[in-house]
Amino acid sequence: MSAPLVFHPSANIAELRESATIAVSQRARALKAQGREVIDLGAGEPDFDTPAPIRDAAKVALDKGATRYTAVEGIPPLREAIAAEANAHWQGEGRYAAGDVVVSNGSKQSLYNACVVCFGPGDEVLVPTPSWTSYYEMVTLARATVVEVRGDPSRGWKVDVEMLARHATPRTRGLMLNSPSNPTGSVYSPAELKAILDLAAARGWWVISDEIYVRIAYDGPAVGALDVAERRDNLIIVNGVAKAYAMTGWRIGWTLSPAPVAKAMNAFQSHTTSNAATVSQHAALAALTLGAPVESAVTAMVAEFKKRRDAALPILRSSKALTVLDPAGAFYFYLKVPGAGHDAGAAFCTQLLEEHGVAIVPGSAFRTPEWVRISYAASEAQVVEACRRVAALADRMAGG
Ligand SMILES: Cc1ncc(COP(=O)(O)O)c(C=O)c1O
Repeated sequence: MSAPLVFHPSANIAELRESATIAVSQRARALKAQGREVIDLGAGEPDFDTPAPIRDAAKVALDKGATRYTAVEGIPPLREAIAAEANAHWQGEGRYAAGDVVVSNGSKQSLYNACVVCFGPGDEVLVPTPSWTSYYEMVTLARATVVEVRGDPSRGWKVDVEMLARHATPRTRGLMLNSPSNPTGSVYSPAELKAILDLAAARGWWVISDEIYVRIAYDGPAVGALDVAERRDNLIIVNGVAKAYAMTGWRIGWTLSPAPVAKAMNAFQSHTTSNAATVSQHAALAALTLGAPVESAVTAMVAEFKKRRDAALPILRSSKALTVLDPAGAFYFYLKVPGAGHDAGAAFCTQLLEEHGVAIVPGSAFRTPEWVRISYAASEAQVVEACRRVAALADRMAGG
């Protein structure tokens, strides 16, 4: 008999790193399984149930036979509803139509589809940093090169036109955008966003605009790219139901893009996953079209996130050892912790979890290793208590 086959990861995944956000949740779960009490503020997942009218619509759809394959790109009424919503924001030339929409298994798949079809070997992609951990991996999996563009911490880590232009080369092919942002909670103003989109349009860059948190904003509505862009032929808008409608497990996301890009993503998806779960597509359709009963649930969820933010932020700010951003959207605090060097954030998170029973995510996941991310998608009491422990640990480490 020959020796057992040893697994050597292929070149495709040679640089792939495990998702740090998922790794933290796993460690927190392991501690809980040992009987430890852990406040888990690691996950980027709303802690609410999917609103009842959406769940009911899914049950009805199932009973009506929504159990088979659909078209790869999704059911027509859902794609029409997505296009209609986009047209409410897009005032420029060329109305969106169902043919511009590809529905996928979560916005994560939509982002990956977009990266694979738009970017390839030799291309450089500007990634404002810090950014959500998966952008770096997806661009790399597409065999393109990540070019980190570090934002300005004193402006919520946002990037501007000058920073982007400084990192551009003739090989720059595109840009990842995310407002409101994970991990910083920062929201680009209409003028800031428009300036960046104008630059991208002038340079012929693809813009992959991840707008998954656009409904979760606290100082008035956050703008999306379609609200301010002059043209849309270089825009790929990514969104989904996970965060706004508390529908993470249903796995529905989508892209709005020029039709040829949609066609390419559709072909790619046809060979990888085919359609997103049929019943989930019907649930997403309900989320987008039922109106008042769903909208009131979204408004209540956003109000609750804001309440938690307002309760916990002063506690974090009370520690002089922490530098804390003011989140205007999404549901994350991003903060610089004491301790020097490249392991500062990770060391803080490990000590916080192992000794104080609070799980948060090290900023190394977002390429800013001296920072940490706290999700406030948990009860107000838990968020407040966790932030007390964070502030106390920071003070102790700083000798205060
Ligand atoms: C910035 C960002 N984009 C996309 C996603 C993925 O969302 P979905 O559940 O729709 O795949 C997340 C989830 O954490 C996220 O934070």
